[in-house]
Amino acid sequence: MKVTVVGAGNVGATCADVLAYREIANEVVLLDIKEGFAEGKALDIWQKAPINLYDTRTVGVTNDYSRTADSDVVVITSGLPRKPGMSRDDLISTNAGIVKSVTESVVKYSPNAIIIVVSNPLDVMTYQAHLTSGFPKTKVIGMAGILDTARYRAFLAEALNCSPKDIQAVLMGGHGDTMVPLPRYTTVGGIPVTELIDSDKLDAIVERTKSGGGELVKLMGTSAWYAPGSAAAQMVEAIVKDQRRVFPVCIKLDGEYGISDCYLGVPVILGKNGIEKVIELQLNDEEKALLEVSRQKVREVMDVLDNMPAKA
Ligand code: LMR
Repeated sequence: MKVTVVGAGNVGATCADVLAYREIANEVVLLDIKEGFAEGKALDIWQKAPINLYDTRTVGVTNDYSRTADSDVVVITSGLPRKPGMSRDDLISTNAGIVKSVTESVVKYSPNAIIIVVSNPLDVMTYQAHLTSGFPKTKVIGMAGILDTARYRAFLAEALNCSPKDIQAVLMGGHGDTMVPLPRYTTVGGIPVTELIDSDKLDAIVERTKSGGGELVKLMGTSAWYAPGSAAAQMVEAIVKDQRRVFPVCIKLDGEYGISDCYLGVPVILGKNGIEKVIELQLNDEEKALLEVSRQKVREVMDVLDNMPAKA
């Protein structure tokens, strides 16, 4: 299996590294527009292979999409990260153009690839890649839900002083402050989380999760990379190994959850065809209302894209 990661910045390089050391693909191509940057990162990852014992070939290229030809999966991480004080939505005007031109090149050389979008604002950049590629909606998907649930699970593990491995959770909606963690569907070793933590603490964790990306931007002056890169790699793994994992993933909704024509995170089964199935949970009235707020927020930013010149 051949996987391309576009953008050799922190997130792209972390994703390529995880793909390599976990031997998720046989060949990983890392591409960047900055001369020599991807070559250097790929070489560094390859030189780590004898130490960490893996044989995935990692190749770096400067903007040469012919070297990405016939990739099975392409991860798009290109674009500016946000700085303190910015929302992800503030990145739209710059990142839409970048994601559009990257997607055009991806489609030219890998017409059968599954595209995973990581660039922000995530839901709307997934829309951009879908529009530009013309691929079926099951094959153009956004990475956010795995990252956001990972943050939620990590905070819970800390509060409960237990292993994050045992925390199962689902979260829906856009990748922004209106995301909808679902405590009612959160378990710890099979036990409903509501039986293990008081509601004030749980509410605080839900709120911290919603601004989890912003917390890191404030701390580091730029956005996160270890968890985002690993989350994208986990999606690649589910696809290339046809694992049929159940993850929250950003996709275009066409009637699911009563929502049409909007890109939002929902639980899906992820396998060799991309989205194999959308799972429709029974939401209560409060959860439905929160999802609707999130839908409206994403729709506003989709409208911004719709009104930009030459969006497709
Ligand atoms: C994240 O959640 O870490 C990413 O979306 C980057 C960001 O700006 O928060």
